[in-house]
Amino acid sequence: MNFCIVILVLFAVRTDGRLSSYQRYRISSLTGERIALPMPDQLEWQAQELGVLIHFNLATYIENHDACPQGLVPPTSQFNPYLLSTDNWVQTMMDFGAKYAVLVAKHNCGFLLSPTNVTFPLNPSSKIVPYNYTVDYSPVKGVNILDEFIKSCNKQKIRTGFYYSTVTNNYLNVRQGYVQNDTLKEGQLNITQQTYSNIVLSHLRELWTNYGNLEEICLAPGMQDAIAKMLVELQPHANVFGGIGITTNSIRWIGNEHGHAPDPTWSTGTSADGGDPDSPIFCPAECDTTLQMFDRWFWGRHVLLRSLQDLIDVYHRTVGRNCLLMLDLTPDRSGIIPPVYANRYKEFDDFIRSCYDTSVRPSFQNSSADFLTYTLVFNAPASVDRSVIQEDQTRGQVIRAYTVTALLAISKDQNEWIAVATGTSIGNKKIDLWAKGTLLVLAVKLNITKTIDVPVLKSFTVHLCA
Ligand SMILES: *[C@@H]1O[C@H](CO)[C@@H](O)[C@H](O)[C@H]1NC(C)=O
Ligand SMILES: *[C@@H]1O[C@H](CO)[C@@H](O)[C@H](O)[C@H]1NC(C)=O
Ligand SMILES: *[C@@H]1O[C@H](CO)[C@@H](O)[C@H](O)[C@H]1NC(C)=O
Ligand SMILES: *[C@@H]1O[C@H](CO)[C@@H](O)[C@H](O)[C@H]1NC(C)=O
Ligand SMILES: *[C@@H]1O[C@H](CO)[C@@H](O)[C@H](O)[C@H]1NC(C)=O
Ligand SMILES: *[C@@H]1O[C@H](CO)[C@@H](O)[C@H](O)[C@H]1NC(C)=O
Repeated sequence: MNFCIVILVLFAVRTDGRLSSYQRYRISSLTGERIALPMPDQLEWQAQELGVLIHFNLATYIENHDACPQGLVPPTSQFNPYLLSTDNWVQTMMDFGAKYAVLVAKHNCGFLLSPTNVTFPLNPSSKIVPYNYTVDYSPVKGVNILDEFIKSCNKQKIRTGFYYSTVTNNYLNVRQGYVQNDTLKEGQLNITQQTYSNIVLSHLRELWTNYGNLEEICLAPGMQDAIAKMLVELQPHANVFGGIGITTNSIRWIGNEHGHAPDPTWSTGTSADGGDPDSPIFCPAECDTTLQMFDRWFWGRHVLLRSLQDLIDVYHRTVGRNCLLMLDLTPDRSGIIPPVYANRYKEFDDFIRSCYDTSVRPSFQNSSADFLTYTLVFNAPASVDRSVIQEDQTRGQVIRAYTVTALLAISKDQNEWIAVATGTSIGNKKIDLWAKGTLLVLAVKLNITKTIDVPVLKSFTVHLCA
């Protein structure tokens, strides 16, 4: 289970009043409607399409559990990735075509993958002690996994980010963001709520200063003002998952972990769903999901992988619906990606490349003077089974509805265009698998039937993926 979920649910409740200061929009000269404007960082982020979320922590070493069960503080001696290779992780990212990677720096156990200088007073003695639940107290002491990860990614120009859950920290007896008062279990320490806030802010300061510019930051509720201030100071360009109401560079969660964006999914809106075309806040969606079955994020013994066909469906329901796909990547206990897993990422990427890297090229193409229709013309009949549309959202997402029609090779009448796809939101990318399957066509036409300003297309292509 990915704990960003908990986070976002809480966020939705708490941020209502502060959203207005994060609106950025222009007024359409065509219709007078508000058009939410993206930050350049958001568009760059959205165009990446594929990323990974890396779950690797003490929870990798406990049996039969995804993440740390409540109150459990597994001893640091269990954390022993004896083959640890972040270059190996990055190889799999490359094989998959991921453009960015977010590493879970701290999950529910409380264990940090890097050393930390943070110290804090125990309650009630006020004795100052080090935050000693880190990789520095494990068998791989001396290795800073965050550092290794950043270096490996930088070598291949994969952008990086961190996830830090402030919601749960078993080591510090924290649940739902609050220090609990139930009896301490083995390994837990007693601190005050104020101490907890100080620890979180100090950890975030280390994470956001020691590793260069971050592409994506995954956040949790609470301490929003302090966190927002630090974001502006330390990582002004990071896209923030869970950042609604604390930054203009926010990303929203799609609302489920199956890899399933609703149709339509808009680039605008702030709730964890398909979004809202009328929202004055540009906040593109991220679809996080697992490679392992059963919503399992940390490596699990005997856990099955999702089939290639399942992943292909995921691709069409996420990237093909204007949602960025963030697929879980989970090293095993030795610290590398199991070869069977690596192979599934590669198969997935092979499909994406073979299907979408080349399009069926028209003999010529044109557009109408009002930019509402685009025609692809083929001199010889061409086999096609899907179309891909990309909108240029630099000045906002403006297309509201479209149809795709085709002139069949068998049609006797030059005016006999048949409908092959219809849709509403396009945004970064919309893939339409034609309901009628593979057709032999002479021409394909995109007709933008509803728009709130002059539309700007990035591309309109057709493909055949037998
Ligand atoms: C801890 O402090 C030392 C000395 O200032 C510094 O070199 C090191 O980078 C710090 N470590 C972290 C994790 O911030
Ligand atoms: C971590 O610090 C606590 C509090 O000082 C101490 O009780 C515990 O033994 C330390 N654990 C390790 C592994 O050093
Ligand atoms: C932590 O210390 C405070 C102050 O002594 C005490 O009231 C509280 O019960 C302790 N909490 C736990 C979980 O032991
Ligand atoms: C301890 O937690 C319980 C349940 O959340 C709460 O009712 C109670 O007031 C708390 N006690 C103290 C001393 O914080
Ligand atoms: C584009 O090409 C098609 C096919 O030749 C033609 O029917 C249409 O009139 C052209 N549209 C424009 C705007 O030139
Ligand atoms: C595009 O769609 C509109 C609205 O449905 C329709 O009036 C128009 O004729 C269509 N244009 C073309 C070139 O198909």
